[in-house]
Amino acid sequence: MSTYNELLKKVDKKNLPAHVAIIMDGNGRWAKKRHLARVKGHEQGSKVVKSIVETASNLGIDVLSLYAFSKENWNRPREEVDALMQLLHRYLLVESNNLIKNGVRLSIIGDLKSLSPTLRELISDVRIRSKNNTGTRVVIALSYSGRYEIVEAVKAVINDVQRKKIAVEDVNEDVFAGYLFTKGLPDPDLLIRTSAEKRISNFMLWQIAYTELYITKTLWPDFTKEEFLKSIISFQKRERRFGMTGDQLISQQDSSRGHSLNE
Ligand code: IPE
Ligand code: IPE
Ligand code: MG
Repeated sequence: MSTYNELLKKVDKKNLPAHVAIIMDGNGRWAKKRHLARVKGHEQGSKVVKSIVETASNLGIDVLSLYAFSKENWNRPREEVDALMQLLHRYLLVESNNLIKNGVRLSIIGDLKSLSPTLRELISDVRIRSKNNTGTRVVIALSYSGRYEIVEAVKAVINDVQRKKIAVEDVNEDVFAGYLFTKGLPDPDLLIRTSAEKRISNFMLWQIAYTELYITKTLWPDFTKEEFLKSIISFQKRERRFGMTGDQLISQQDSSRGHSLNE
């Protein structure tokens, strides 16, 4: 097994994904394997959040977005939902000073009005306290649904058209993206999903059009900073074609290399 430092040497620091998104799945199965209550899996999972945020920040990743709770997750048993909300509350309360000290900018995306007023207050406080930081932006998706986000964006566009702030003809993909919760952020380059499920579960549907996927069997509470590096190394070996042919990419690289030689 490679150590963190060995793996770190294999990471090309000039070709880091600007935005890494993670579907943190498998807490319940982790607990079940140990005959523990599901909430114990969530507790362990929140410790892993801390370690991965630190790793991303040390590496210099611009954006790390973490899917923590979906709108559909509200349909889980009441005790589990309550325990998750308490954990999130505790995470923000306990971790925020440390995060802010490390230069992290923290924001939350999702249907925030469905959260409790105390949690909303805490979210707004952490966002304000970290907004002038210049380090990694950590975006936590909470009560989030990609379809909901798109519908809300459509409603906001219609509103602006009706108020004549924009014309229908001006609406294009870039303009539309500016109405999403992720306004101003680059699309994810890499999406990690733990615990082997090969699905998107309503996460960033618009934004992941050309995102590279890394699906691992590892359950989220067992995910390590070493595996985070492995996912980046795997990403860096891929050829992202964006609909073009492989040969086109090679000639593009050659001509940009030519440019830099002539400079
Ligand atoms: C991910 O773990 C955390 C949330 C969805 C809140 P799960 O709780 O979904 O764990 P599994 O999928 O049941 O193992
Ligand atoms: C996706 O996991 C949501 C989060 C990780 C927060 P789920 O466990 O809710 O997804 P499904 O139900 O297996 O698709
Ligand atoms: Mg799950």
